[in-house]
Amino acid sequence: MPAIMTTQRVAIIFGGNSGEHEVSVASARSVMAAIDRDRFEVAPLAITRSGTWLTPEETASALTRVEGQNLATIQAEGAGLLSRPEVLRWLRDVSIAFPVLHGTNGEDGAIQGLFEVANVPYVGAGVTASAAGMDKTVTKALWRDAGLPVVDSMTVLRRDAEADPQRIAREAERQFGYPLFVKPACSGSSVGVSKVRSREDLTGALIEAGRWDRKLLIERAIVGREIECAVLGNDQPQASPLGEIAPTAEFYSYEAKYVEDSTALYAPADLDEETAAAIQQLALAAYRAIDCAGMARVDFFLPAGGKPVLNEINTIPGFTRISMYPRLWQVAGLSYRDLITRLIELGLERYAETHR
Ligand SMILES: Nc1ncnc2c1ncn2[C@@H]1O[C@H](COP(=O)(O)OP(=O)(O)O)[C@@H](O)[C@H]1O
Ligand SMILES: [Mg+2]
Repeated sequence: MPAIMTTQRVAIIFGGNSGEHEVSVASARSVMAAIDRDRFEVAPLAITRSGTWLTPEETASALTRVEGQNLATIQAEGAGLLSRPEVLRWLRDVSIAFPVLHGTNGEDGAIQGLFEVANVPYVGAGVTASAAGMDKTVTKALWRDAGLPVVDSMTVLRRDAEADPQRIAREAERQFGYPLFVKPACSGSSVGVSKVRSREDLTGALIEAGRWDRKLLIERAIVGREIECAVLGNDQPQASPLGEIAPTAEFYSYEAKYVEDSTALYAPADLDEETAAAIQQLALAAYRAIDCAGMARVDFFLPAGGKPVLNEINTIPGFTRISMYPRLWQVAGLSYRDLITRLIELGLERYAETHR
């Protein structure tokens, strides 16, 4: 007699009201194409750009109607989540939620808080790690506290940058000189990030970053390679082989990431064993320092002849089949399908451990 396999229902939640909406839709399409259908039944739940949650039926029809990755044009009755109680009822009936969302509301602890309140297990980092990982100033504070190397930076409130940009500029020049980087504290996909070479550029860069967040970072520019490590696990995380991104553009901007296709991804990266091991150890320490769970991609700079420095951590990294995070696990021998299965198992394990 064949063993009875019970399938678990997984809510794949994607889209959303964030600057990374399209990236999320692309990642979710990949996940839904690859997930092990013998083990999991999928309930796709899209969130439109205006923040409306769609039912699985609306989502399925939206995905067939909409070409590409933009669900912006989809209209549905009601707005937001609370006006769609039928979607909330769907969440009640799933075994686990898999947020394939990037940025605001999806990767920053907000939706994780909803799952906690609703008592629904979910894939990935919890509320604290999601929130800490999203805010680059908080991430850096935790990493510094753990004795980990970070890029020198100063934090500026948008209102202070607007009130007296010249004072901010003088302070940044004194601390870092040019070139330097300006970015929103909570950003992703390089949205709002600028490389700045002069005081005139700096004012514009502060305004641009201020379009995305009320808190900004000014950072010393690091000249070096960009190395990435995929981390997987809960209390005993593992580090993947390393990858490298090599932008041919000035830096790894939004255009370089998604529009121009001008960036080469190498997996594995060409690194000597000692350097690679050191970076993997740092990635695990960085993961633990924010109390991460499930997965994260930890990004580094490696200055020529120098030691690796942490840049940032992404608790829901780009997750299409060809994105760096899944690719690094493929190099380690874990297929995309099995990675998705493992992440779901880790989410259920974490829920069990939390509610023990
Ligand atoms: N301090 C820095 N020195 C050199 N390059 C940087 C620095 N900060 C950011 N960059 C460049 O900008 C890109 C995006 O910045 P990042 O901090 O990773 O923001 P995001 O969260 O939007 O990916 C990086 O991949 C890198 O190419
Ligand atoms: Mg980045």
